[in-house]
Amino acid sequence: MKVVETIAEMKKVRRELKGAIGFWPTLGYLHEGHLELVRRCVAENDFTVVSIFVNPTQFGLNEDFDKYPRDYPRDLAMLEKEKVDFVFMPLVGEMYPQRFSTWVEVEKITDRLEGGIRPAHFRGVATVCNKLFNIVQPDRAYFGQKDAQQVLVLKKMVADLNMNLEIVVCPTVREPDGLAMSSRNTYLKPDERKAAVVLYRALTLAQELWDKGEKDTGKIRRAMIKLIQQEPLAADNINYISIADAETLEELDKIEPPTVVSLAVKIGKPRLIDNIVLE
Ligand code: PAJ
Repeated sequence: MKVVETIAEMKKVRRELKGAIGFWPTLGYLHEGHLELVRRCVAENDFTVVSIFVNPTQFGLNEDFDKYPRDYPRDLAMLEKEKVDFVFMPLVGEMYPQRFSTWVEVEKITDRLEGGIRPAHFRGVATVCNKLFNIVQPDRAYFGQKDAQQVLVLKKMVADLNMNLEIVVCPTVREPDGLAMSSRNTYLKPDERKAAVVLYRALTLAQELWDKGEKDTGKIRRAMIKLIQQEPLAADNINYISIADAETLEELDKIEPPTVVSLAVKIGKPRLIDNIVLE
């Protein structure tokens, strides 16, 4: 496994590779859920490039950019074990030199949910992914369904800008109790960690109601809220519960599959997100 630290070197390495290139962009601080994505990327491609870059432009001013957990030696050891070929770790100053002034804005779909709460977040995500795709030039790039809106934004960018790569979406990897794995789970204190399972329980309830034939999204949303309110650490901290078209993220009155049920709840310090798709 080779660690590449500059854009010029990454481009040089790329020029010399022949075969299918799989790419998995990350913020680092890898967990077991992440490894499912990298395993798939390694299995499906001739070469795998992973980037570790805590991208400042997708964090808001009051967010956790400085405090975002980092452990590069541990990340590199995990990736080495998975037989990753290249790890690209550029410096912020090289990715965003002074007077950097070009941004990728994906409109509409970014107005709501995470984009509604975190203005400019998806502008940062789309811009950094566009830059990384230009540098690495992958045939396939791997993303997690855990960040459902991110996947839709990036698929839209790739389609609208005619980019030459396929976005591969991987299922959400969960802890045994159902909590979606996330680097931000490390911020949870033990009682908060227990409470955090309420997100998955609310999603499971939506699935059960849909399986029983309930189509009314108002009723499903109210049942989810009621369940979350039974958990004191979550009760007053629901950011949103959305039941929306799985492609456009437009809110629905009646479920029309595929429908994505997504929610964001603050538990202790972190704001946790999760979703399921009703087929
Ligand atoms: P990061 O949060 O590091 O996540 C890297 C990738 O792993 C993302 O595609 C995310 O959806 C996926 N992922 C995280 N937890 C997962 C889980 N429990 N199950 C399945 N997939 C999971 O998302 C980002 O980084 C950044 O926004 C990035 C795309 C790298 C741009 O900076």
